[in-house]
Amino acid sequence: MSANEKAILSVGGKNHELDVIVGSEGERAIDIRSLRGQTGLITLDNGYANTGACQSEITFLNGEKGILRHRGYSIEDLCERGTFLETAYLLIYGELPSQSQLSTFTEDITRHTLIHENMRTFFQGFPLKAHPMAILSSMVCTLSAFYQQSYNALDAEHTDLTIVRLLAKIPTIAAFAYKKAVGQPYIYPDNNLNYCENLLKMFFAVPCEDHEVDPDKAKALDQLLILHADHEQNCSTSTVRLVGSSLANLYSAISAACCALWGPLHGGANQAVIEMLSEIAKDGNNVRKYIDLAKDKNSDYRLMGFGHRVYKNFDPRARIIKKTCDKILAREGINDPMLDIAKQLEQVALEDEYFIERKLYPNVDFYSGILYRALGIPQDMFTVMFAIGRLPGWIAQWREMVTDPATRIGRPRQVYTGQQAREFTPIENRESLPGRTAGLDRVTPHE
Ligand code: CMC
Repeated sequence: MSANEKAILSVGGKNHELDVIVGSEGERAIDIRSLRGQTGLITLDNGYANTGACQSEITFLNGEKGILRHRGYSIEDLCERGTFLETAYLLIYGELPSQSQLSTFTEDITRHTLIHENMRTFFQGFPLKAHPMAILSSMVCTLSAFYQQSYNALDAEHTDLTIVRLLAKIPTIAAFAYKKAVGQPYIYPDNNLNYCENLLKMFFAVPCEDHEVDPDKAKALDQLLILHADHEQNCSTSTVRLVGSSLANLYSAISAACCALWGPLHGGANQAVIEMLSEIAKDGNNVRKYIDLAKDKNSDYRLMGFGHRVYKNFDPRARIIKKTCDKILAREGINDPMLDIAKQLEQVALEDEYFIERKLYPNVDFYSGILYRALGIPQDMFTVMFAIGRLPGWIAQWREMVTDPATRIGRPRQVYTGQQAREFTPIENRESLPGRTAGLDRVTPHE
C-alpha cells in the first residue's frame, strides 16, 4: 500500500521524491525502485539489513516484541492446535485447509513418499562420513533429473505436483542419508503412518525387528517442524527467491536453500550449539570462560544459538522449544547434562551487560538440538531436520515470488572499489604478490 507520505532525498543540490510504502502491520519502507533512474545512484547495504527485497503476505515477524505469525496465525496457536501439514498448506496456499482439502493434500503427499529406486543406489556413492546436508542438497537437486517433464515454474499444475513430491520425498531422502551413515538397511516409507511417525520409523526401524513409533515423540517432532516452517526473508529463503528468480526449477532452488541453511550462522547453528555445549562440558562446565571468550573482541568465538538479525527480544520459537524440551526429558526420565549447561549459559548470558546491550537472546537453535537428542536424532542430522521443517516456507516464498508480477530476476549491484584500467603485465616483469595459500602440494588427491 502506498502512503501519502513521500521521502525526499537531496543529492547534489537537487531534491528527489520517493514513495513511502506501508505494510499491513504498519511497517514503512522507502520505495527506491526509481532511485537509479532519477539520480544515477544505487544504495549500499551489506547483509541487506535495511533492504526489503519483496512484498510478502506469508509471515509477519516483529523482532522487538518477539512476535511470529504465519498468514496472521500466531506460532503459538499453530503449535498448540495445528499440525505440520496444515501449517504447510497454510503457508503455501494462503489459508488453513478445510477437512477435505487437508485429506486430499495428505493423501497426495503420502502417495509420493517413495523415491525412484535408481536414486537409492546414489546413496552408496557417498563417503561413509559425508555430512547428511551434502547428501540432502545433492539428492533434492537430483530429483530434478527424474521429473523433468513437470517443472515449469510458470505452470500451476506442474508446481502443485512438484510441491507434493518435495514434501513427500524429503523425509525419505533424510532417513536414507542417516541409514547410510550408520550402515543399516534403508527403511521404505510406511504410508499407514502420519508424516512424523513415518519419518521416525524410517530413521529408527530395522527390518529384523518390529518397530512401534512413540506418538508423543512424533507429536514433539511435528511441533518442531512447525516451529521451523517459515521465517520470512532469512538467508536460505532469500536464496530460494534469488535462484528461483532466474526461473530455475523448484528442486534446484530448494537444493540451493539447503546449502545456504547448512552454514553455522544459519540452520547449522543447532549442531554447533551441541558441539559448543559438549566442549564446555569437557572443559569442566566452565560456562563463564566461554561467555568471556564470546565477549572478547580479539577472538572470533560466538555463543552459538544466541543472537538474531531480527529478534531483539526472546525468540518466541525458543520459548516453545524450551517448554517441550523440559516436558519430553521429564517424561523420558532423561537427565541430559547438555540441558543443564544450556540453562546455566542462558542465565549467565541474560544477566551479562554485553548480551543485554546487544539484545542477544537464545534463538530457535539454542534448545532444538537438546530436543532432537531426546528424540534420538544424531547431531549431524539436526540441520537436516531444520530443512524438512523449513521446506513449506521455502516453497511458499518461491510460489509467491514466481506469481508476483513485480518479480524481476535477482541481480544486486555493487560499488566497485578495485583497480582502475591498467596495462597487462608480462610474466617476466611480475613480482610475487600475496595471493593463494601455499602448501596444497602436501594434500594427495582424494585425501
Ligand atoms: N555471541 C557473541 N556476540 C554476538 C553473537 C553471539 N552469538 N551474536 C552477535 N554478537 C555481537 C556481535 O559481535 C556484534 O557485536 P559488536 O556490535 O560489538 O560488533 C553484535 O552482537 C551484533 O552482531 P552482528 O553479527 O552484527 O549481528 P547479525 O544480525 O549480523 O548476525 C547472527 C546475526 C544470528 C548471525 C549472529 O547473532 C550470530 O552469529 N549468532 C550465532 C549463530 C546462530 O545462533 N545462528 C542462528 C540464527 S537463528 C536461526 C537461523 O537463522 O537459522
